[in-house]
Amino acid sequence: MNKLPLTLLAAVLGGLLLSGCDKPAPAAHQPAQYDLVRLEDPNQDIKTYTIPQDTAIVDAPNAEQIFYGKRLLNETKRLLPEHVGADMNCNSCHIAQGKIPLGDPYINSFNFYPRVMPRAGKEVNLVQRINGCFQRSMNGKALAPESKEMQAMLAYMEWLAQNTPKEQLVDIRNAGVVDESLVADPVRGEQIYYAQCAACHGDNGEGTYDTRGDVVFPPLWGDKSFNIGAGMARTYKAASFVKYNMPMGIQTRGLWGHGNVLSDQDAVDVSQFFAHKPRPDFAGKENDWPTVPKPKDARY
Ligand code: HEC
Ligand code: HEC
Repeated sequence: MNKLPLTLLAAVLGGLLLSGCDKPAPAAHQPAQYDLVRLEDPNQDIKTYTIPQDTAIVDAPNAEQIFYGKRLLNETKRLLPEHVGADMNCNSCHIAQGKIPLGDPYINSFNFYPRVMPRAGKEVNLVQRINGCFQRSMNGKALAPESKEMQAMLAYMEWLAQNTPKEQLVDIRNAGVVDESLVADPVRGEQIYYAQCAACHGDNGEGTYDTRGDVVFPPLWGDKSFNIGAGMARTYKAASFVKYNMPMGIQTRGLWGHGNVLSDQDAVDVSQFFAHKPRPDFAGKENDWPTVPKPKDARY
């Protein structure tokens, strides 16, 4: 038998195997990339934005401050008990540390504010927006703008927005869309809750805790949940979060349990059910929507 073709074959195969090693990792493992768009002309693409890896924080001149901000967003309840009434962390709602589309990402927050917000009826800066989540979503107290903690959270959000000029945004949406003309059926919502949500969020919406007392699955109603002033207390706002992020753990569109197993009607029904359960009141609610008609799912 002539040995030459075999040697050739081995060389070709070897070459293929070797070049295989240089191939890029599968798409799912590549860093997420999005288009950048101009605020005044969203159709004009400028360049791409890549979500930075947290391992690169060490290279930033204010790395310590950024790491502290990241930690505060993850462990808000434990680190800031005086400011957090609910058993929640910021990232209980800002999914995957505020880094994924439709899960309330922080990616555009640094460039998006200040801006006039309908609920406030005036211009709101990023400090006020964060404090809005402290007072409503966390049922807690505002942080002083100059405090080390507030500055650290701002530093993390600024770091996330790196390489995006102020007048540009990343083409990534905060929340998904649900059909707001659907009429909610809370009885159906209750059935969906006990079938799809109660295993993690509890039979009484009380959430699940680990043995240290830290929250694992945050409460959906009761004294330890967000108050009625929170966006999440509004049926359609909650549904646009729930549809695209819950039930967590069911993988349909990505590495994180990225929801999308409920229909719009399911999401509206289950949101009506849990959002309208008893929860803390919000002092100052009478000042909301002073200049525009309030949304139809407003609680007051
Ligand atoms: C109960 C859920 C919940 C919790 C807890 C929560 N937030 Fe939010 N947050 C929201 C929702 C909902 C929005 C509105 C997103 C939208 O625009 O649809 C929001 C908006 C924001 C925004 C503006 C995002 C943007 O770019 O427009 C920032 C910044 C923010 N939250 C920070 C925080 C911080 C910091 C904490 C912790 C102190 C926190 N949030 C806790 C639900 C929550
Ligand atoms: C496998 C467990 C699991 C299931 C099932 C689940 N969730 Fe969640 N949910 C979570 C976790 C975990 C978080 C907090 C996010 C984080 O820590 O990353 C969360 C957060 C939430 C939040 C925002 C925080 C809060 O407490 O208000 C809402 C609202 C929510 N879930 C609603 C639902 C609804 C409605 C269902 C059923 C359709 C559901 N979840 C099913 C695990 C789950």
